Amino acid sequence: MIDYLAQRRADLAQRCPYPVLLWAGDPPSRNFPANTYPFRASSHFLYFAGRPLPGAALLLAEGKATLFMDEPAPSAALWHGPTPSPAAQAEGIGAQAVYPLADLLQQTVDAVTLPPDLTQVSDRAMALVQSLVDLRLRHDDWALAEMRFAAQVSVQAHRAGMAATRQSTTEAEVRAAIEQVMIAHQCPCAYNSIVTTHGEVLHNEHYHHPLQPGDLLLVDAGAETPQGWAADITRTWPVSGQFLSPQRDLYNVVLAAHDACIAAARPGVEYRDLHLLACRTLAAGLVDLGILRGQPDDLVERDIHALFFPHGVGHLLGLDVHDMEDLGDWAGYAPGRQRSSRFGLGYLRLDRPLAPRMVVTIEPGFYQVPGLLTPARQSGQYDDAVNWERLEDFASVRGIRIEDDVLITQEGCDVLTAALPVVAEELEALVGGKG
Ligand code: GLY
Ligand code: MN
Ligand code: MN
Repeated sequence: MIDYLAQRRADLAQRCPYPVLLWAGDPPSRNFPANTYPFRASSHFLYFAGRPLPGAALLLAEGKATLFMDEPAPSAALWHGPTPSPAAQAEGIGAQAVYPLADLLQQTVDAVTLPPDLTQVSDRAMALVQSLVDLRLRHDDWALAEMRFAAQVSVQAHRAGMAATRQSTTEAEVRAAIEQVMIAHQCPCAYNSIVTTHGEVLHNEHYHHPLQPGDLLLVDAGAETPQGWAADITRTWPVSGQFLSPQRDLYNVVLAAHDACIAAARPGVEYRDLHLLACRTLAAGLVDLGILRGQPDDLVERDIHALFFPHGVGHLLGLDVHDMEDLGDWAGYAPGRQRSSRFGLGYLRLDRPLAPRMVVTIEPGFYQVPGLLTPARQSGQYDDAVNWERLEDFASVRGIRIEDDVLITQEGCDVLTAALPVVAEELEALVGGKG
């Protein structure tokens, strides 16, 4: 581990010619100081420190790592048990020196740190941001081992959720079965789990709906390792264990988009082109089902597909589930590129050519969002392209998303979450509706 940390620090020094100061952050308290929210260290700190050390700061300068961290309070032994000293923590992360936080200002006068407002960055801060992006875009073997572990735990968690569905009466019970697996592996959730029969609400974080036999359950849940590396998986399965016929048809359209993107993912391919491939595949499938009319290319050009697939096909994955989005689009968009104002492209979070060791998600979906479809239908504007009456046959589908985590390799890609089935009949078998 220390070798990887040393390499990351050396790589940063090569790119950024200034002393760099990174903060871990402190857990905010809920009401009184000792009752805190769970601590999650800043990902930039974690990348170079390797351990979540509350309140600590790391100075990287002149080939040396210096940890700033206070001794635990005298009462800590009573409330929290024995805690490693700052000196022991410094040794554990391969830091060459350690000082109390009171010494920090004096020792870091020249250091550059991440500015709170990325629209107002100095040249030095800009060099730091660009260096962090360059480093964290492509993962080393230690990071990949961590992400494989997060993926493995998340796959097991989804399997537990599928197995629990038929005995569960609410979304909350399925969520409990999923998160139980993560907790048992000492992995927090990488983000708030989505476990919902209302998948049309893209980031639905309510869990109170009763599970009804004709419902689809959309589950977007992923673990992160204790060092902070994330997984991000979505599956959509029938509560009863059997897809209704219109649900199966639409599920297979989304699956075709998912499979097409994964088949095309390799170095040099533009992620934006994968997004457009997903859009065209969805549009073609919806034409085959009689929901849309026209040529898939034309439909995508007009953003008709976005009425049903309004988000981007995915994002970077790493220490954060939307990796480095704390840096705005600095990581997601290649230099000189900007978000499109087009409805069908504006939510695209990643617009770069793929390269080996990048990890991205592939997550196409189909949603019937009343807030989008009702005004679209009322406007009459899309009547040539959308067969609204035919769409009514698919009312049992509110939201479907299928999401996997994809490592770009030298030749193609490796799906880190492939151990979790995506084929409709395999999901049915896992939910247990067929036996
Ligand atoms: N879990 C959030 C996302 O898929 O982007
Ligand atoms: Mn995602
Ligand atoms: Mn997700």
